[in-house]
Amino acid sequence: MRRGAALLLSGAIGMTGCAQSAGWSEDAVRGEALVQDLGCLACHGPEHGLGPTWSGAWGMPRRLADGSTVVFDAAYVRTSVLEPGAQVVTGFDPVMPSFSLTEDDLAAIVAYLQESG
Ligand code: HEC
Repeated sequence: MRRGAALLLSGAIGMTGCAQSAGWSEDAVRGEALVQDLGCLACHGPEHGLGPTWSGAWGMPRRLADGSTVVFDAAYVRTSVLEPGAQVVTGFDPVMPSFSLTEDDLAAIVAYLQESG
């Protein structure tokens, strides 16, 4: 009886450890693969600098070339990907190509940007 309870308990602890190892939703994990496959990191990766870094960007205000300010959120990310010229970040050239992605892929990229940064 006692031994059984101890085994159950260690099983539960093991499972908790497992769930914590990633901490990201499935969408975010897929989004990370997408930004690698689509070549986003060629410009947005930490070592390049053609585009703004995403590190610490989520939820922060972004200053645009037209003098306005937007918050880095889901709507902003969608516009930036589908229509990069619509909201250009100040200090950067408008060199980002537009990407036509499915709703699913867009949602995955948004989840990745939100959960990673
Ligand atoms: C050729 C380089 C290049 C590639 C490839 C590229 N971007 Fe960009 N991106 C930029 C530049 C430059 C800006 C800043 C100017 C602007 O806002 O359009 C930008 C802006 C952005 C912004 C908003 C600006 C901000 O505040 O960070 C997001 C979000 C973004 N890109 C996402 C993506 C995603 C997702 C991909 C891949 C599907 C991608 N970019 C591919 C160059 C690139």
